Amino acid sequence: MPEDNADKPYIVTCTAPVNIAVIKYWGKRDEDLILPINSSLSVTLHQDQLKTTTTVAISRLFKEDRLWLNGKEEDITHPRLQSCLREIRRLARKRRNDGDPDSTGLSHKVHICSVNNFPTAAGLASSAAGFACLVYSLAQAFGVEGNLSGIARQGSGSACRSMHGGFVQWIMGNREDGKDSVAQQVEPESHWPELRVLVLVACAERKPIGSTSGMQTSVQTSLLLKHRAESVVPCRMGEMIDAVRRKDFPAFAELTMKDSNQFHATCLDTYPPIFYLNSVSQQVIHLVHRYNRHYSETRVAYSFDAGPNAVIFTLQQHVPEFVQVVQHFFPPDTNGEDFIKGLPVRHVALSEELKRAVGLEPMPKGINYIISTKAGPGPRVADDPSQNLLSADGFPKETKAPLI
Ligand code: DP6
Repeated sequence: MPEDNADKPYIVTCTAPVNIAVIKYWGKRDEDLILPINSSLSVTLHQDQLKTTTTVAISRLFKEDRLWLNGKEEDITHPRLQSCLREIRRLARKRRNDGDPDSTGLSHKVHICSVNNFPTAAGLASSAAGFACLVYSLAQAFGVEGNLSGIARQGSGSACRSMHGGFVQWIMGNREDGKDSVAQQVEPESHWPELRVLVLVACAERKPIGSTSGMQTSVQTSLLLKHRAESVVPCRMGEMIDAVRRKDFPAFAELTMKDSNQFHATCLDTYPPIFYLNSVSQQVIHLVHRYNRHYSETRVAYSFDAGPNAVIFTLQQHVPEFVQVVQHFFPPDTNGEDFIKGLPVRHVALSEELKRAVGLEPMPKGINYIISTKAGPGPRVADDPSQNLLSADGFPKETKAPLI
């Protein structure tokens, strides 16, 4: 933090992406440090479509640390927020002790303001983008560098993977202090430019059981989860990294679907069971398998997190037809104008043969809309000051980021 004007808050704004796991994280071996029982792998989604924006202001005039989330002041004493703040300040202190003259403002309080451009807690990994953005912005403000994924992990496990772009693995590590439980980039976003992601937003309501408590019960009760963590995921991680490196879509797609299915099987094996998929999710699963069967080729894959929204992976050349299939079997409310957001999708006509091959009963309004996106980069500093969510005095501007 440069100190040219001591009374003026130092302000920095950053953005961070959402990520979708294709090998899922589910279960902790340490609740406080957020250490997982298995490694995981994800695709970072492009921030042009889905992102969190966070502004951090530091000033010696601020009385206390404060936080505003999506327009509302929140309690900053939440232990996970406190872990992230504490760790960044610790690193900044270390830098100062090592003689870096830039690391000032250490005793000053921070104001943090954050917004998502997508519905919070709709199963779209908002905590991942949120904590990644918080940690990245705080690090910028306090002049801290290096692999910060271990700090983002202490906000929310999946957040560590949002600290990098492209294809990212979270190595579970085995140290008790968690120092080796970090995220690393496997390949950058430019590695597989044909890969496309479609988020099928089935329901924008709050999810029934949050990931944190859901996975706690799974660890306590599911033998399938134990087997998965010990015997299935270690092999799958290697296979998935290999499929990504070779850009082998059928291998990537099959592993993605099997891993999503096994994660939801562990939820059903949890006692009492947890259900994240609904009838729309099931219909999407059938639709994908029937579509692939029609072409005798794995062209499309699905993945579901702790909610009913499907995330579809496919290659660019199949997007227009698959989107049309979704629109046909989930007829939207409107004439389809607002049904597709994000990257533009060309309209194509569906053959009667394909409709017959899928052969499902249409579910009107089952899917609210589709977000069409692709892999993207990790967190960024926003250079344009108009993106600041805090005004020059360090208090929230009244403007809200437009929702997609
Ligand atoms: C199903 O990272 O939200 O999305 O670490 O308790 O904050 P906490 O959980 P969280 O769990 C994400 C679970 C998942 C799978 C995944 O992203 O790997």
